[in-house]
Amino acid sequence: MTCPGFRSDGDGFGATAAQLSRVRALYDTWSPTFVACAGTTHQTVLLPVGPTPTATNLELAKRAGVAAGEHWLDAGCGAGGPAGDIASAHNGLLVDAVTLSPVQQGLASAELARRGLADRVAVHCADYHDLPFADAAFDGAWLFESACYSPDPARLLAELRRVVRRGGRVYVKDLFRKPRVASAAAQRDLLLLQELWALPTPATLAQWQKLARTAGFAVVRAAPLEGATAYWYTGTMFELGPAGLRRNAFGEHFAVNMPAVPVVWAELLLQAA
Ligand SMILES: C[S@@+](CC[C@H](N)C(=O)[O-])C[C@H]1O[C@@H](n2cnc3c(N)ncnc32)[C@H](O)[C@@H]1O
Repeated sequence: MTCPGFRSDGDGFGATAAQLSRVRALYDTWSPTFVACAGTTHQTVLLPVGPTPTATNLELAKRAGVAAGEHWLDAGCGAGGPAGDIASAHNGLLVDAVTLSPVQQGLASAELARRGLADRVAVHCADYHDLPFADAAFDGAWLFESACYSPDPARLLAELRRVVRRGGRVYVKDLFRKPRVASAAAQRDLLLLQELWALPTPATLAQWQKLARTAGFAVVRAAPLEGATAYWYTGTMFELGPAGLRRNAFGEHFAVNMPAVPVVWAELLLQAA
């Protein structure tokens, strides 16, 4: 499966092309392992609404205001689990899903076909800063643990404002940098997190709100995700061997302790003005 190059190279956005390449390489390399170990939702934290990623995906859709018959963008769709869960639960919902990774595009397309949703969910390989969709094409957009990959949130928000109709919603569930990264341990863990997951320096929740208003959104809600935990996700990194628990192929590379990492998990609900 091929994917277009980054149009951002030639228009002054080139400083970030290397960052986008890192993200694409990470997900092209690791997505088959993520799917084998964790399934088709790939989120670090789940909400306290049930033990499965599906329960969290449906709760996030509720918070985003997804309704039957609407047309939504899944910006940073991973291997298709969230789009599959949400489309299955909402009659007639249409979803265009985008990922930077051609490998993920293939995995997500297969997952959605397996669930009988190929006629309602289309998976594209595209950069969410430069979307192949018309102005006001969508009732809303959700971004589950994908916005943190943007090296230019102002540009991402401007692009989301372009493709979401007036009155439509954008819902972001993600990690945000704490306003102060005070200790050396916090600085070290932040760099480790960025290195491991190909992340740029994350912006704070306050910075996102400011940029969202500039891009033409009203901020409806911006709050920490109460009770969110990484228990499920951590569990997907281990398996039971003859001598007890051991890291699996996912955990071998990604089970790294970062106790001082200076991020908060939060949600941001925006409405296009
Ligand atoms: C941690 S995964 C989350 C996947 C999915 N949202 C989920 O909940 O399972 C991050 C996703 O963001 C996507 N992503 C990161 N930067 C992107 C960009 N510039 N354009 C499109 N997708 C991007 C990656 O390709 C990957 O699919």
